[in-house]
Amino acid sequence: MKKMISPSLLSANFLELGREIEMLNESEADWFHLDIMDGVFVPNISFGIPVVKAISRKAAKPLDVHLMIVNPDRYILPFRDAGANILSVHYEACIHLHRCLQQIKEAGMKAGVVINPHTGVNLLKDVLPYVDVVLVMSVNPGFGGQQFIPQSIQKIIELRSMIDKVDKEVLIEVDGGINLSNAPVLFQAGADVLVAGNAVFSAKDPAQTIKLLKQ
Ligand code: DX5
Ligand code: ZN
Repeated sequence: MKKMISPSLLSANFLELGREIEMLNESEADWFHLDIMDGVFVPNISFGIPVVKAISRKAAKPLDVHLMIVNPDRYILPFRDAGANILSVHYEACIHLHRCLQQIKEAGMKAGVVINPHTGVNLLKDVLPYVDVVLVMSVNPGFGGQQFIPQSIQKIIELRSMIDKVDKEVLIEVDGGINLSNAPVLFQAGADVLVAGNAVFSAKDPAQTIKLLKQ
């Protein structure tokens, strides 16, 4: 298990984005998690391509872009050009998921598939050989600061045993409601990467919180 942290900038102070990025650059954060919401797939709108592009100029770590949008296949190249390194699309948003994942790889990025809390990990069996990351939502996507859904732990355990049977490295990332009290259980269940928004950015010392989340 890798024990990586991908802080979600959705909870950052947008008026001080430059400083927030510098803080993450100097911290033990591994990736920058960027939540893209279109107001259609999820009931909220966040930020888009120009903001990702601006962040990529200053961020010294891989950009982990989580697309919560319909028709994500239409935006693969624009996000690649904006600086995305890992591009994750929702299982529930892709009619032709296999093609979409292949297009992400062909565009030179790592490909991720995201599952909502109601989507079973068993549905991923046929796409596992084509993904680098599986992102398990542990809240319903759309907002930061929500309560962790405890059933997500069982999904991580199941997914870990599925991945261990595939002859390929696939990272398990978990997103939503993660804090200092549930992080150890999630790593123990088999997660490699934890996303944390509220827990990091509402902390007195965000860099120290990132460090503690890894322990
Ligand atoms: C939710 C987003 C998450 C969110 C996590 O739709 O995908 O990445 O920002 O925020 P916290 O850690 O506050 O639940
Ligand atoms: Zn996210």
